[in-house]
Amino acid sequence: MLFDIRKRDVTTSTNDDAKRAAVAGAPEGFVIWALHQTQGRGRIGRPWQSDEGNLFFSVVLRPPLPRSEWAGYSFVAALAVQETVDYYVNKDIEGAFSVPHNVEMKWPNDVLVDGKKISGILLESEDDNWLVLGIGINVRCDPDNPMYPATSLASETPAVPELGDLLDRVLDSFDSWYARLNHEGFLPIRAAWLMNARKGTMRVKLPAKATEFYGEFLDLDIEGALRLRLQDGSERKVSAGDVFPFV
Ligand code: BTN
Repeated sequence: MLFDIRKRDVTTSTNDDAKRAAVAGAPEGFVIWALHQTQGRGRIGRPWQSDEGNLFFSVVLRPPLPRSEWAGYSFVAALAVQETVDYYVNKDIEGAFSVPHNVEMKWPNDVLVDGKKISGILLESEDDNWLVLGIGINVRCDPDNPMYPATSLASETPAVPELGDLLDRVLDSFDSWYARLNHEGFLPIRAAWLMNARKGTMRVKLPAKATEFYGEFLDLDIEGALRLRLQDGSERKVSAGDVFPFV
């Protein structure tokens, strides 16, 4: 994919800009990168704190797969971020006495460093012709995150990358995982995701419901839903919701 990166000092939300561009006919690979967002958003309408120093960008995609399979793109995005963050936080670790950082993906697409959230991914689409992928990576600022403990590259490694270099690396990695999903389907993506996924006991909150329950991670099914074993021994599939590792 050819990326055409447009950089802004400030915008409301790069996802809004990319959505507008997609509706106006922007080709796949059109990227909006902003140094600061005034109305950055997260999943389920939550705000995404967007201070200068962190990376905020959105990519226009024109996915070749049928819309029923688009959930796969969210795992593709998580793999790209996981691979990139892993590179930066572990590249200078040398010698027998250093403990590498554990860079994991938490269902569906958060990336955690030693259990703390470093990135968020938001996919949005309003028709079959386009999908906007928005990614935020904490680079120099740790947002106050009441939902989940957060961290940034600067808190985990002395070698903090330039935002442009980080963006190029995530896009490169995304490009190869995206091609893999499009050509080989979800199975290799699922296998790669499972290798570095946060497992164990999870607390699950379903959207728009006050109920919470606990379950043991079992698997990721072929549609991207999370399979859990509940305390009474039954199995439950979760297709949307918030998942918190239980510690
Ligand atoms: C989440 O974890 O809830 C997802 C957060 C997604 C944030 C990114 S930052 C770039 C893009 N623009 C936005 O307004 N949101 C996404």
